[in-house]
Amino acid sequence: MARAAVPVLSSLGPVALDRAGAEPLHRQLYRALRQAVLDGRLRPGERLPPSRALAADWGLSRNTVVTAYDTLLAEGYVTGRVGAGTFVAASLPDAVPGSIPARDEVRRGVGLSVRGRVLAEAPAIARDRVGRPFALGTPDLGVFPFALWAQLLGRSWRQGGRPLATEPDPLGHAPLRAEIAAYLRAVRAVRCEPEQVVIVSGAQQGLALLAQLLLDPGDEAWVEEPGWPGNRAALLGAGARLVPVPVDGEGIDVAAGMAQGAGARLALVTPSHQFPLGVTMSLARRLRLLDWAAARDAWIVEDDYDSEFRYAGPPLAALQGLDGAGRVIYVGSFSKVMFPALRLGYVVVPPDLVEPVRAARRHFDGGTSVVPQAALHRFLADGHFASHLRAMRSLYAAKRTAILESIADAFAGFATAEAGEAGMHVLLRLPPDCPDHMLAERAARIGLTTPALSSYHRDADGTTGNGLLLGFAAHDPAMLDRAVRDLARLVAELPKG
Ligand SMILES: Cc1ncc(COP(=O)(O)O)c(C=O)c1O
Repeated sequence: MARAAVPVLSSLGPVALDRAGAEPLHRQLYRALRQAVLDGRLRPGERLPPSRALAADWGLSRNTVVTAYDTLLAEGYVTGRVGAGTFVAASLPDAVPGSIPARDEVRRGVGLSVRGRVLAEAPAIARDRVGRPFALGTPDLGVFPFALWAQLLGRSWRQGGRPLATEPDPLGHAPLRAEIAAYLRAVRAVRCEPEQVVIVSGAQQGLALLAQLLLDPGDEAWVEEPGWPGNRAALLGAGARLVPVPVDGEGIDVAAGMAQGAGARLALVTPSHQFPLGVTMSLARRLRLLDWAAARDAWIVEDDYDSEFRYAGPPLAALQGLDGAGRVIYVGSFSKVMFPALRLGYVVVPPDLVEPVRAARRHFDGGTSVVPQAALHRFLADGHFASHLRAMRSLYAAKRTAILESIADAFAGFATAEAGEAGMHVLLRLPPDCPDHMLAERAARIGLTTPALSSYHRDADGTTGNGLLLGFAAHDPAMLDRAVRDLARLVAELPKG
């Protein structure tokens, strides 16, 4: 098709692509085109130029344009017909004009603070598409005892009576705090008294709360590279300057952290099961990190988000239990062991921080809703939690074995899985000629949710990792096997070179 027949470039207006910037060009192009769709410069039904033509006009590689188009296609902004071209969708996906302001509008000015803008711009944690294989962090809800849970909620309310309806302790329901302290002491070797346990509305709230309390704007904080976007967003929201510290087979590289950000006030780490690589931090690294924190009076925040599911190796104590200097704050979550929408988690703080945290909770939100806490207390105290955990551990161990077998078979000689010793996902390492973001986008189009490893790197350019994350807990082995084979077929169909 002749380029002159394609009017889209003039209707788009000027588009600034920052070729030297950290954001990959395909992301910038995707955002520019998406914005043009959202604000009506590209109209429903309008044809986008062929990828080759756009690439030539804007001096981009064809892959860059194809990847941007694939993303728009996967998200429903455009439709594609083989041989016919790419068209702006007649009906747009949810949550566009008129509802949530697009990012560029936010930037242009709804009066946000600098930190508000940083938060609005931070990469979103995709909580959509959870019903699809291989969505991350989703437990098998088919086996959760919801009927029992409903009974416990009702009973807690009836038996708790008026005290549950009056002013709550911002630190949480005392019987639940005591139960969690006993559990953490016994199972994770965490050193704590019930008074040090703070109930939060999910680990994410705990991380944001700690960042607000412990960091001043501009303070440096180490984050794992690659790492969980939610961790970064929590720190960014407090105005922190992130120091991305590489992770290797032993966990965060403390020497690299000291070289890059010796003056950091805080390090946020996932020692039991690094997200997303799945490695367990070695004892040598743990001790080194603790020494660094003790010497610098820095904080270590230990995000222990899914360590309950450990399948190999000896039982692993928490980093917090090794800390003789009171520098480690432990964060845990019920999202994986119970269900994500429960929004209950906990933070274990050193005694000196208890009252500042109480004050902060009072000012921020007054505490977490009490009735679910009371029901969760009964769930733990009556032994249901321990038996559910045991059952999930063996169920997920079987699913993990099954998905590893499927991968070994479907990807034989081409790609390998790294499973670590714990958790609910495996990492499929891909060869360099198979870009993970391209595969993830194509997978999305056939109903698979497989985040690209490169998307967890701060610069998202994939230079330090190329792979896909495959959550395995939510689906049965037969479905996982089908999905693994569909993925392998997509790999075979990827354009080479
Ligand atoms: C590494 C990591 N940290 C923290 C969280 C937040 O957990 P929560 O659902 O309790 O807020 C998640 C959620 O998936 C996670 O993967």
